[in-house]
Amino acid sequence: MSQAKFSTETAGKVITCRAAIAWTSNAPLSIEEVEVDPPKAGEVRIKVISSGICGSDNHILDGTFKTPLPAILGHEGAGIVESIGEDVNSVKPGDKVLLIALPQCRKCDSCLHAKGNCCLKEDIFSPFGLMLDGTTRFTCKGRKVHNILGTSTFTEYTVMHEISVVKIDDDAPMENVCILACGFPTGYGAAVNAAQVTPGSTCVVFGLGGVGSAVVLGCKAAGASRIIGIDINERKFEKAKALGVTDCLNPQKFKKPIQQVIMEMTEFGADFTFEAIGTIDTMVAALESCNMSYGVCVIIGVAPAKSQLSFDPMKLLSGRTLKGSLIGEYKIRDDIPLLVDNYMKKKIDVDSMITHKLPFVKINKGFELLRSGKCIRCILLF
Ligand code: APR
Ligand code: ZN
Ligand code: ZN
Repeated sequence: MSQAKFSTETAGKVITCRAAIAWTSNAPLSIEEVEVDPPKAGEVRIKVISSGICGSDNHILDGTFKTPLPAILGHEGAGIVESIGEDVNSVKPGDKVLLIALPQCRKCDSCLHAKGNCCLKEDIFSPFGLMLDGTTRFTCKGRKVHNILGTSTFTEYTVMHEISVVKIDDDAPMENVCILACGFPTGYGAAVNAAQVTPGSTCVVFGLGGVGSAVVLGCKAAGASRIIGIDINERKFEKAKALGVTDCLNPQKFKKPIQQVIMEMTEFGADFTFEAIGTIDTMVAALESCNMSYGVCVIIGVAPAKSQLSFDPMKLLSGRTLKGSLIGEYKIRDDIPLLVDNYMKKKIDVDSMITHKLPFVKINKGFELLRSGKCIRCILLF
């Protein structure tokens, strides 16, 4: 096992370390010894310190979100730069960084647009699971292993493109700050950036897991006066109320569709609705729960591969807005360091989303906690 430190002693060399490999879908991850190649030009090798387990990792494992396997999953990480390839300017060995699934190249059409954050260098929508040069830096038992979303955090060392690596404050608490790499900004930014929730408004959040909890925090920070939380797992309700949800509903407890229940509760529909589950039915319910004239519905959940969303277009003609958002519309390298600063100044409450911490080798237990609904966010420590 590697004992690498943040010095030149490992730079330029292959590092042998432990990683959790997803050989196939619908099977436990297996902790294996892997070889991690040195970073090439524009790349950074990072010692992972902590990583959250996100709903999207579970979608990959259960086969609903397709990325090439075998792979090292994980895309919500915090770590320390071990070495850098040529032409890397924004980070240096020893820097604390977040490992994010969405890059910001600062050169493409989307990055150059004031509102765009879906960098064209992404590997999310038709994932190859490889570096931009078409190769991988991971080998296990002589087999090449893919990365996911340009990240891969379920490993002691990973290699990423500089454009997906975000330098953060030297004093950032590395055990918890990984949540700011995916779950927190995805939910919080959906409320404050994508929907632009207004003071005194009514919001509905479908799904009270890690991402939905961050939506709740965003709605509350924006001054929403009523936040209705929807989940089929009533164990989520106590925590949701502590975060700011005013009414909790379990759709399975009603005879009528949940959108009808919400219409009746809010008289004319909610101002803002959010889908943080990832199923077609709940996306349609979220759309139909917002006000027909001025309601805004934001899709955050990742729907199963090849699924199609279908609804009566008259639902939009009346004035509703349907939109989606990725990592909360943040331009990651510009904006996430500021979120980290706000977290360190206790202006945003990230820690209350973290319900479990486990050593990295207990990763399968972490997935079990997510699937059984026993955790909001479980963090793996390396
Ligand atoms: N109706 C209501 N709630 C549901 C339903 C349903 N049909 N199905 C699942 N849920 C709830 C679960 O009980 C859980 O509390 O949705 C929540 C999902 O939360 P997590 O599993 O913690 O997933 P999370 O990490 O929050 O991700 C949610 O956002 O980024 C995407 O890919 C991610 O699609 C996923 C979504
Ligand atoms: Zn995620
Ligand atoms: Zn770009």
